[in-house]
Amino acid sequence: MNTLRFPCPNEKQRLFLLDTHRYVAFGGARGGGKSWAVRVKAILLAFRYPGIKIMIVRKTYPELRANHIAPMKQMLENEAVYKELTKEFSFPNGSLIMFRYAQTTADLDKYQGTETDVLFIDEATQFTEEQFDRFKACVRGVNDFPKRIYLTCNPGGVGHSFVKRLFIDRAYTSNEDGGQYAFIKSLVTDNHALMASDPDYVRQLEALPPKLRKAWLEGDWNIFEGQFFEEFRDEPAHYADRRFTHVISPFEVPDGWNVVRSFDFGFAKPFSCDWWAIDHDGTAYLVLQLYGCTGVPNEGLKWHPDRLFSEIARIEREHRWLKNRRIGGVADPSIWDQSRGEAIVDFADRHGVYFEKGDNKRLPGWMQCHYRLAFNEAGYPGVYFFSTCRHAIRTLPLLQFSDANPEDLDTSQEDHFADSFRYFCMSRPVTPVLPAAQNPPGDDPLDLAADRRYGAFSY
Ligand SMILES: Nc1ncnc2c1ncn2[C@@H]1O[C@H](COP(=O)(O)OP(=O)(O)OP(=O)(O)O)[C@@H](O)[C@H]1O
Ligand SMILES: [Mg+2]
Repeated sequence: MNTLRFPCPNEKQRLFLLDTHRYVAFGGARGGGKSWAVRVKAILLAFRYPGIKIMIVRKTYPELRANHIAPMKQMLENEAVYKELTKEFSFPNGSLIMFRYAQTTADLDKYQGTETDVLFIDEATQFTEEQFDRFKACVRGVNDFPKRIYLTCNPGGVGHSFVKRLFIDRAYTSNEDGGQYAFIKSLVTDNHALMASDPDYVRQLEALPPKLRKAWLEGDWNIFEGQFFEEFRDEPAHYADRRFTHVISPFEVPDGWNVVRSFDFGFAKPFSCDWWAIDHDGTAYLVLQLYGCTGVPNEGLKWHPDRLFSEIARIEREHRWLKNRRIGGVADPSIWDQSRGEAIVDFADRHGVYFEKGDNKRLPGWMQCHYRLAFNEAGYPGVYFFSTCRHAIRTLPLLQFSDANPEDLDTSQEDHFADSFRYFCMSRPVTPVLPAAQNPPGDDPLDLAADRRYGAFSY
């Protein structure tokens, strides 16, 4: 019987300590007591399951040492032996807590054969999805110990998008079971110990610039430095109440409205086919979306172009919002490319799905997207997204400015819907109206009509 005593966990930490999902993410903001909870949970598991293997991962060794190894040495003074060479605590009951770090993907090669029952990734958004997958592969073993993966995270970082997808948006691929994933949000205000011992810490967070403050103090995953569509507002509203938001509940598309289709295609990448309904004032509504991945290199095409365009044709034939309408299309000009064999557009033609070449000028295209998204003085934007078009709503706020080309977005991200949106906007350009001088830009998020660059728009 050990005599270890821990301070009381706070309410959110208690939930984390008790959670038995296969994947649990904890945190979403700074200072919520995440690293503390990782240490305590790892130790409790080590005592609870004699012989279990536990791995704690951070990006660098100095972080591991400061955040986990040193405090754990104090906590486990007479309970476990730490071996510097192997960076492991071994317990008298045979349990093991191993510390590992990986600054680059190549660092992961050395963990190829490592097996663990439980994995903790502290600051998971500092890892890429590929690195996450490779650590995940270490969770195996022929035994009855629970197999679990715990992540702690703050918004931002190279892993922001995969952590957000799995735990915040809960948008799963066919290989992932959403029932295995749990997210426990913890803010600094949940960490009573820190609030009492270091009230300045909260004041420091409050003093951050608005975007970082929202991310790190309030745990807002849609807002962080470098966000390309900063003005995007995802507060779902009904049609009657659609001011200062871009996301609205679906409604029946009136017969008299035009519907157009925009399309972006990628080899072995996601494609996005989007149907926009246009009202009599020219406001666009993204009403339906077909989004998927054409396939993985060398594994065959999941969405062969024939299947893709036959599905698009079927949707347009059968869906009550689309059938019996003349639907024009605009697409990524690269689908006319014949350098890899038959052009993709020929497959589309065969299924009666016709496109015009989209205007691919990037910066003017992005400006058109911004003009559309800008709210006019009354609070209405030029484009809305039905709340059911989740890949649009998920990916748009994730896109970041490119480091190399600051006016453009970083094209290494999931920008396929954004490209389709851009072709659509370029096919029906709107004119921006510069903000009135008496309406200076402000901090108020609702003051977007006064946005520095774009202002309100008119047709
Ligand atoms: N239940 C608790 N009882 C006593 N002290 C706690 C408790 N939870 C956390 N702390 C202390 O609060 C401080 C912040 O906690 P911790 O480092 O775990 O936060 P964090 O969420 O990992 O922060 P960061 O976002 O900076 O990584 C630490 O000094 C930690 O020891
Ligand atoms: Mg921490």
